[in-house]
Amino acid sequence: MKAMRFLMLAAGLAMAAGAQAGDPAVGERLVTEKDCAACHKRLIGGDGSKLYLRSDRKVKSLPQLHAQVSFCATQLKTGWFPEDEEDVVAWLNHRYYHFK
Ligand code: HEC
Repeated sequence: MKAMRFLMLAAGLAMAAGAQAGDPAVGERLVTEKDCAACHKRLIGGDGSKLYLRSDRKVKSLPQLHAQVSFCATQLKTGWFPEDEEDVVAWLNHRYYHFK
């Protein structure tokens, strides 16, 4: 019984830690689902991803990436929870920004 409770606690902690770090795979799905790129395409053309990769891009740190994702997600009225934004940040960072 005790061991069971310990396992459940450990699993809970692992999940909490995972949520904090963000899951890039989930983030990719969210970005695709909400079609974040549609608006960026209108701004910059191509598939919109140039916005993340241009030399004069706005976002220069992980906290800035968080702030920008929050801002855009609000504009788009995604209804995302902080954990969802966390996943999206993880995805964009993994794919484009590579902040430590
Ligand atoms: C209503 C249009 C619009 C939508 C929808 C939108 N964005 Fe943006 N996004 C912008 C604008 C405008 C900028 C800033 C461009 C600039 O200032 O040069 C931007 C910039 C960004 C940047 C920073 C790019 C850089 O310069 O480094 C990120 C990251 C980003 N958006 C993420 C998202 C995500 C994630 C979504 C989907 C939830 C999203 N955006 C949806 C308009 C939009």
